[in-house]
Amino acid sequence: MKTPENKKEKKKQLASKGDANDVMENLISLCKRRGFIFQGSDIYGGLAGTWDYGPLGVALKNNVKDIWWKRFVTDREDMYGMDAAILMNQGVWKASGHVGGFSDPLVECQKCKRRFRADQLEPENREKQVCPECGGKLGAERQFNMMFKTHVGAAEDEGSVSYLRPETAQGMFVNFKNVLDTFHPKLPFGMAQIGKAFRNEIAPRDFLFRAREFEQMEIEYFVDPKDWKKSFEHFIGEIRGFAEDVGLPSAKVHEHEIAPADLAHYSRRTIDFEFDWPFGRKELYGLAYRTDFDLKAHSSASGVDLSYYDEEAKTRFVPHVIEPSLGVDRTVLAILADAYREDELGGEKRVFLKLAPSVAPVKIAVFPLLKNKDALTAKAREIYKVLCAEFARGSSGVEYDESGSIGKRYRRQDEIGTPFCVTVDFDTIEKPHNPVTVRDRDTGAQESIPLKDLVSLLAQKLGK
Ligand code: GAP
Repeated sequence: MKTPENKKEKKKQLASKGDANDVMENLISLCKRRGFIFQGSDIYGGLAGTWDYGPLGVALKNNVKDIWWKRFVTDREDMYGMDAAILMNQGVWKASGHVGGFSDPLVECQKCKRRFRADQLEPENREKQVCPECGGKLGAERQFNMMFKTHVGAAEDEGSVSYLRPETAQGMFVNFKNVLDTFHPKLPFGMAQIGKAFRNEIAPRDFLFRAREFEQMEIEYFVDPKDWKKSFEHFIGEIRGFAEDVGLPSAKVHEHEIAPADLAHYSRRTIDFEFDWPFGRKELYGLAYRTDFDLKAHSSASGVDLSYYDEEAKTRFVPHVIEPSLGVDRTVLAILADAYREDELGGEKRVFLKLAPSVAPVKIAVFPLLKNKDALTAKAREIYKVLCAEFARGSSGVEYDESGSIGKRYRRQDEIGTPFCVTVDFDTIEKPHNPVTVRDRDTGAQESIPLKDLVSLLAQKLGK
């Protein structure tokens, strides 16, 4: 029944949907305008569910991956880094259960032929089998396998079938014995890797949120079955720690316990870490207790023993697995969506990204006040070189810019989320202590500081 209350509620929902669409549209447009992220194959009209990272996007993404690798691999003694092949023997995907069961429910409209993921339709449309686009009749639901199938080698027969991996996890399970035999680690220990995953999503949507090609940062942490709870708890804290490292506010990250009936076939317990996206609260990361499902399945399918011998307890068993699985692109989107701001500065509207310095693609920009004054540009370039040596990583981190007016340069740096700009003017050359101006992105406040203090001040501000 349409009461005034639920009419009001519907209106409110529609309004907030409208706001969310605006935020996402503005963000996508900023990402394109400023060289973060472009639609994949754009000049050919695009390819749905694919996104290309431009110079600033890849710098931001690399910062995210570096922070993850540092926290979970370099800073730990119990983690073994990996980079497994994307193409794997089809036997892997049969044993893992992906060939048989990695599918989503699909429905097709008999009139307009559009296809939808049945579990993402409005309940009314699903129940009454009505197409949300044209109002036509929807056909029967069927399971659609999301793996991209291909053939390896010249022959296109059953034996040459392979798949682009839909998760990085299996590349670690099939190398469990290699790591065991070469490094002889004691339990608990983990294998970690960052890499591409591919899923032929029925309905890619919400920018980077659900793509067909994306990256994962995954750990398979092998434990004695009696200790699984301790490690599970440990990784809840570590995932929260990582989210903080990249600047995501903890109040926007929520833990959602997956009901037993909804668990994936390999999991005995899963927590989804959900994020408050502009389009609602949805999954950001997953943490699963995969038991011994995968090692046992690969052991029985390959005939290779994947057990572990505990020398102290003199027992042999198949380790259990705790799996923190984090999407790189979802992290990038969460960072960008959270950082997007519109305000007014000096009587003018501005857009800026309030990025944490740890992930900002450019941490410091250096400008000469005027570009056609040789003395200024020479001094600014000299300072730029010093700051590069201190703060840059490869070709990103510190930028030199002399194009356009100073106001325009500030606006561009605000839009790409640069926390600090350093401006060199005539005082820098002429006055005692060579003062430079340091401008703060968030407040627009400018402070004049002696050149000799610049590196230490920026290091302190950037948390280095
Ligand atoms: N190995 C377990 C696994 O792959 P998942 O929940 O299917 O679990 C893990 O995926 C994470 O990968 C998700 O939490 C999300 O961050 C990311 N992810 C999954 N599908 C994605 C997609 N289509 N586009 C972007 N990121 C995705």
